[in-house]
Amino acid sequence: MTAPTTRVIIPAAGSGTRLGLDQPKAFVDLGGSTILEHCVAGVRDWSVDVEIVVVVPADLVERAAELVPSAIVVAGGAHRSESVRAGLAISGDADIVLVHDAARPLTPPAVFRRVRDAVLSGHRAVVPGLPVADTLKRVDNDGRVLDTVDREPLRAVQTPQGFAREALAAAHADDAGLATDDAGLVERIGIDVHVVVGDPLAFKITTPWDLRVARDLVAERLRVANTRPESSSDGGVFSQGVRS
Ligand code: CTP
Ligand code: MG
Repeated sequence: MTAPTTRVIIPAAGSGTRLGLDQPKAFVDLGGSTILEHCVAGVRDWSVDVEIVVVVPADLVERAAELVPSAIVVAGGAHRSESVRAGLAISGDADIVLVHDAARPLTPPAVFRRVRDAVLSGHRAVVPGLPVADTLKRVDNDGRVLDTVDREPLRAVQTPQGFAREALAAAHADDAGLATDDAGLVERIGIDVHVVVGDPLAFKITTPWDLRVARDLVAERLRVANTRPESSSDGGVFSQGVRS
C-alpha cells in the first residue's frame, strides 16, 4: 500500500483591502521577501515532499511562478472559496489536502504536522484553533449589549485546515454561499470537524497592525539567525527561514 499523498493549497488571490496597500497582500514585503515567499518557505520547513499549489490574481501568475518556483501556480477567483476551488481542480490526485492562507506566513511547522497527523489518524476535517482570551459580548446594531457569551467552548480557528480530499471536494461542490473558511463548508454537509491546538504565530495578517507585528517578528528572527554560529531548525518560534 502506498503512503497517502498530501497537497497544500495556498489561497493568495485576495486584494488585501483591509491592509490598504497598493498591491495584493501576498505580494507585500515582509523583511525583504514577499508574504507569499514566507508562506511557501514555512510549508517547506515542515515538508519538502508535499506538492504546493499557490492561487494568485490572474495578472500575477507569472510573477508568483518566479517568486515560488517550487510551487504550481494557478489563477484564483473573486472570492476565497473560488480560489480554493481553482486549487482543488488540479489536486484530484492527492489523498489529503491542506488549505493554508498565504496571509498566515509565520505558521510554525508543528501546526502543519498536528493537522496532517490528525487527518492521517482518521479525521476527515481538521482545523487548528486557540482559546479566546477576550470577553465576548453579543451587540445589536445600536451598540447595546444583548448578552455575554460563554467563551469557554469557543475557539479562534486558523489555517492550515486539513481534509480528506473527497470531503473537501464534496463540500465545495455543494457551496451555495460564501464561507470564510473551508471547514465551514464541510460542516454544512454534515462532516465532523476536529480541532487541534493552533499557535499564536499562525495569526492572519489582516490589518496594518498585523503587518507591523509580522515585520517585527521577522526582523527578530533574522537578528537571532545572524548571531548564531550555525543555523538551527529546532522547530522553535523562529526556526523557519525564507530560502532565496
Ligand atoms: N483569498 C483568495 N482569493 C480571494 C480572496 C482571498 O485566495 N478572492 C485568500 C487571501 O489571499 C488570503 C486568504 O484568502 O491569503 C484569507 O483572506 P483574507 O485575509 O480576507 O485576504 P484578502 O481577501 O486579501 O483581504 P481583505 O479581505 O482585507 O481584502
Ligand atoms: Mg478577504
